[in-house]
Amino acid sequence: SQFDLVIRGARCATASDIFVADIGIVDGRIHTLGQSIGPGRREIDAGGRWVLPGGVDSHLHVDQRQTSGGLTADTFTTGSIAGACGGTTTMIPFATQNRGQSLRWAIEEYHERAGGKTAIDYNFHLIIADPTTAALREELPGIIAGGCTSLKFFTVYDDVMLKDHQLLNAMAAASREGAMVMVHCENAAGVAWMTEQLLERNLHAPKYHPAARPAIIEQEAIYRMTAFAELTGVPLMVVHVSAGDSIGLIESARRRGVQVYAETCPQYIALDSTNLDRPGLEGAKAQCSPPPRWPGNEAAIWEGLENGFFDVFSSDHSPYRFDSSGKFPHGSDVPFNRISSGVPGVETRSPILFSEGVVKGRIDINRFVALNSTNAAKIYGLYPRKGTIAIGSDADLCIWDDQYETTIANSRLHHAVDYTPYEGMLIKGWPAMTILRGEVIAEYHSFCGRTDAGQFLPAEKRSRAKTPTPTEVELSNLGVSPLYG
Ligand code: URP
Ligand code: ZN
Ligand code: ZN
Ligand code: ZN
Repeated sequence: SQFDLVIRGARCATASDIFVADIGIVDGRIHTLGQSIGPGRREIDAGGRWVLPGGVDSHLHVDQRQTSGGLTADTFTTGSIAGACGGTTTMIPFATQNRGQSLRWAIEEYHERAGGKTAIDYNFHLIIADPTTAALREELPGIIAGGCTSLKFFTVYDDVMLKDHQLLNAMAAASREGAMVMVHCENAAGVAWMTEQLLERNLHAPKYHPAARPAIIEQEAIYRMTAFAELTGVPLMVVHVSAGDSIGLIESARRRGVQVYAETCPQYIALDSTNLDRPGLEGAKAQCSPPPRWPGNEAAIWEGLENGFFDVFSSDHSPYRFDSSGKFPHGSDVPFNRISSGVPGVETRSPILFSEGVVKGRIDINRFVALNSTNAAKIYGLYPRKGTIAIGSDADLCIWDDQYETTIANSRLHHAVDYTPYEGMLIKGWPAMTILRGEVIAEYHSFCGRTDAGQFLPAEKRSRAKTPTPTEVELSNLGVSPLYG
């Protein structure tokens, strides 16, 4: 018998191990890991370079039509091609329920947008903007059975934010049905009030965007959401943690037995508030929410990446073009609060973490794999099919060239955005080859896959933590069993 593909001399790393092996692939899966294995119809010599699990980007926005603000320029096609060229083989963008829509309709709509038009494998997180009793009772179980087991809620943004009472209802429903929740944590009233104060003083430039959303605004909402997770027993992902002081709040919730995961993104290690302080509107290229923080804050984020505090390093790719379709839907002569928030980054996510993390010696290769692939696959119910190198897993692999030096240039990226906030950044290490289920889909900066190769990946349900939280103990002492069961 013959393998479809053999990768020889692979220096493999998973989240926990390092081994040198030949990888034999049959029918898109890893069939054999061994020494001097039999021939393949195609053979690739890895020459002792790192062969790592393909990247799993678990936070990105493609083909979303925001009811207010800009249009995300990337479709599933362009977003996934860009991901492939940056070493990513699985993406989990959002399906959005707008108010008044059914959840089922939202999921079906996104299946239509993605199906046959995506170059890498995918799942969706479902943004719920209208958690009616009917949606939560009648629709949610079917959505979860259909393989979408993560829900996303917002504490800010008028068109999608939920009130506390709605958050509790939706989190309890997720807990009951076996889903997990991701929350964008910022205090909406705090942002609105700070914005008013700044605008009254005529402080309009993009550089004031971070002043409207100081770290305490993130921290207030993180504390509240970890408390709600404790009340409802639901596993919680705090997305895009931006500030060092937010870490302690999450650690304290974990010590209480609350299942809280933490995500951060390239913009919180590779950008800071000075990137928003550029002439004219240039600063808007680094404008995202939560904002890049003060110079020096990135050291605390790095510490959290190094010591295992952070579970996931995702892009939060928000592809707004630098024109009236994206960043400036209300014109260009507007204060910062009328500019679309978000930065692109699906293609540069893994190279930035590899270059700044592994090559500079801040994180080891196992931590890189955990942050880049494994943890997201586990947390979002795609493991061990995705996120590791193991017999039976999908042959999603990335051969890294750690000697390759490049400068990030938007002209070489594949997204539909006309800028990158990382223009000019020096990078050492790039995916030499990206392999999806045994097919080479990208080599260095060029895509060579099929735009319809991506498959929908049904995610597994979540189970709740077994250790009781102080709240569960307190209720049980009062003779009350969990209220979300
Ligand atoms: O500013 C950002 N991050 N925009 C994208 C939407 C979100 O909040 O994740
Ligand atoms: Zn967000
Ligand atoms: Zn986002
Ligand atoms: Zn307008």
